[in-house]
Amino acid sequence: MDVTTLILGAGAAGMMCAAHAGPGTLVVDHGKAPGEKIRISGGGRCNFTNMHTGPANFLGQNPHFAKSALSRYTQWDFIDLVARHGITWHEKTLGQLFCDGKSPQIIQMLRDEMTAAGADLWLRTTVGEITHDGSRFAVTLDREGARRIVRARNLVVATGGKSIPAMGATGLAYDIARQFGHAVTDTRPALVPLTFSDQRFAPISGVAAPARVTAGGTAFDEAVLFTHRGLSGPAILQASSYWREGDTLSLDLDPGDSLLTTLRAQRQTEGRRAISTELGRHLPARLVDHLAPALGLSGNLADQSDARLAEITQALRQWHLKPTGSEGYRTAEVTLGGVATDRISSGTMQSRDVPGLHFIGEALDVTGWLGGYNFQWAWSSAVACGNAI
Ligand code: FDA
Repeated sequence: MDVTTLILGAGAAGMMCAAHAGPGTLVVDHGKAPGEKIRISGGGRCNFTNMHTGPANFLGQNPHFAKSALSRYTQWDFIDLVARHGITWHEKTLGQLFCDGKSPQIIQMLRDEMTAAGADLWLRTTVGEITHDGSRFAVTLDREGARRIVRARNLVVATGGKSIPAMGATGLAYDIARQFGHAVTDTRPALVPLTFSDQRFAPISGVAAPARVTAGGTAFDEAVLFTHRGLSGPAILQASSYWREGDTLSLDLDPGDSLLTTLRAQRQTEGRRAISTELGRHLPARLVDHLAPALGLSGNLADQSDARLAEITQALRQWHLKPTGSEGYRTAEVTLGGVATDRISSGTMQSRDVPGLHFIGEALDVTGWLGGYNFQWAWSSAVACGNAI
């Protein structure tokens, strides 16, 4: 069977690319349904983009690579698309846009766009041998037990990264890249909870607090959640992309730098109350109890000198922690690293070495922050590729 374009992977990027690649496009996926990660994303409401998307929200060996695609298909273009399909949305926080309804609305929108573009979709299809004769690819596909060879001028690899294998994630994109001589950068789980071998936060599991978390020189101001196994919450997931084994994480539990002034003022009016009680007005009481021995909290607020209050607040502003690891690909929202971008055109996502071979979405070494950035990369890279085909 001959097609013009064969797209491997019916996730966010693969479906969006098919909507732009024109007739003669076939999308294949080994899953039972397309867009499974879209379905579960954003707590079922899909955080489909971020109003503040820009190249600075992405990590990768070449920080300039994402610029072209992001500027030619922007968050506003995707918002227009969503509006044309009658999908209403709201901003939750920090520019993060979610469906008012449910994530399957986004999947249906992409399926409708694919149908309008004349693209076909084969599910439950496994990918076997891939060869290239210089002008066309021949890909062996097994569709529900029937083996076929599909020939295509363009092969688009949109099979994503390694996060959440239970949802069908595989390293296929990396294998194909290597087969055709492309390098793959080191990959690791990102946007992932961090763990401690001693379960030190088990007693305060479920407690959340706003904080500034710094890892690898980059800081995020969002909530931290203490868990049985370690640390989670948006600030930690963000920091996990910058943290490496052996690194220290810095937590500032007074990111507004107001605690010292506030405690000194409270000392005038509430001096007879315990320091831990008064701190509990600003931080979760269970967290204060947990930290009390390390901070040496004792006595009333009136007993604390200015220097002592400064010492306590300083310790809360510089809480250094050394996680032992992360929850890994089992729960990571994305894979950091991927197909090296040095031999990929940033304008078309096409290989500079193998004509017709393209990589899009999470498969590439482009990783966004938490908050809709990864889907925006999927849309932008897919449109760059689809329009160029
Ligand atoms: P994606 O993973 O979406 O699609 C790849 C497709 O390829 C899948 O359909 C898979 O079945 C298929 N495939 C893989 N291997 C194959 C093989 N060997 N043969 C055939 N098919 C194969 N991002 C964001 O911006 N906002 C959000 O709210 C969230 N929320 C979120 C929640 C959770 C739990 C996760 C795990 C991830 C997110 N993300 C997110 C990240 C986002 O889901 C991710 O970055 C994009 O889905 C990447 O899109 P791709 O199309 O590149 O890969």
